[in-house]
Amino acid sequence: METKRFKPCEVATFQFFVSGFIKKETELNYIMADGRVIGIISGKGGVGKTSLTVNMGIALKQLGNEVTLVDADFSASNLGVYLGRYDHPVKIQKVLHDEASVEQAIFRHPTGVKAITSSNEINQVEPDTSKLREILGKASETSDYVLVDCPPGLDRTVENIIESCDELLIVTMPTQTSGINAAQIIEKCKELHKPILGTVMNMVENNPEKELLEREVEMMTESHILGKIPYDPEMKESLFENEPLVLYNELSESSIEIQRLSANLDGKQFEEPKFAKLKRGLRNFKKNISR
Ligand SMILES: Nc1ncnc2c1ncn2[C@@H]1O[C@H](COP(=O)(O)OP(=O)(O)OP(=O)(O)O)[C@@H](O)[C@H]1O
Ligand SMILES: [Mg+2]
Repeated sequence: METKRFKPCEVATFQFFVSGFIKKETELNYIMADGRVIGIISGKGGVGKTSLTVNMGIALKQLGNEVTLVDADFSASNLGVYLGRYDHPVKIQKVLHDEASVEQAIFRHPTGVKAITSSNEINQVEPDTSKLREILGKASETSDYVLVDCPPGLDRTVENIIESCDELLIVTMPTQTSGINAAQIIEKCKELHKPILGTVMNMVENNPEKELLEREVEMMTESHILGKIPYDPEMKESLFENEPLVLYNELSESSIEIQRLSANLDGKQFEEPKFAKLKRGLRNFKKNISR
């Protein structure tokens, strides 16, 4: 089957429509604090932001960092669920509304990562995010990394969240809709003069018949591809088992990719696990015979 690929001129036209005359250079606009505040963002929903936030956070912790995860998805929060159903009575909304301190909202997960979760009560009012930057800055005083799990979309709340982060890491799937939304969010980050670390392609199946190629996503988003995380059924399985993937199966291909990405972000050499393929084969064999 012949798949339609984008020609460079089509990509250029697309980029023009998305970006208009947005400045290409990005001014650094850091919060004056110790750790890096990184927003994990996408534009399109369901591409794997929360999964990446939690698993990268644990991988960064395993590399010896102090990490705080913050759920900034105020209306469909699920960071605590992805941490394995861990939660805390003091949610971020209380801190945003001056009813609790940042310290009161932070709890430590058994992995050692710290987290601030968000309320998932229905019918709650949209929180005032004007204090978010202050909260993230405070959390970064005691962390090497603060990873902010962002909501999908491109509304005013998302803009406030982008403005509250030091840097943004874009997540996309290798599909046209997801790529277009990633490009839009990247343009928004540039408009707000926020540095973009690059783009992570998630749920990659390496099937050029139905997926965008790496260079196409790169051209579409005008951003560097930091990593390609394979589509991995164990991602959902691990969620079902209440255990983040990097703990559930540290040797799965996507788990290794997340660990590699985290080591790169942390400026460390990634040590490829030995005999991973063989061990994966054995694990699958055992799983199949126990079914
Ligand atoms: N690499 C992957 N392979 C297979 N499934 C994945 C992968 N990454 C994430 N998933 C699954 O995709 C679903 C959506 O993931 P996730 O909730 O992390 O996305 P999200 O971008 O945070 O979504 P939302 O925009 O709704 O917050 C989940 O069921 C998750 O287990
Ligand atoms: Mg999410």
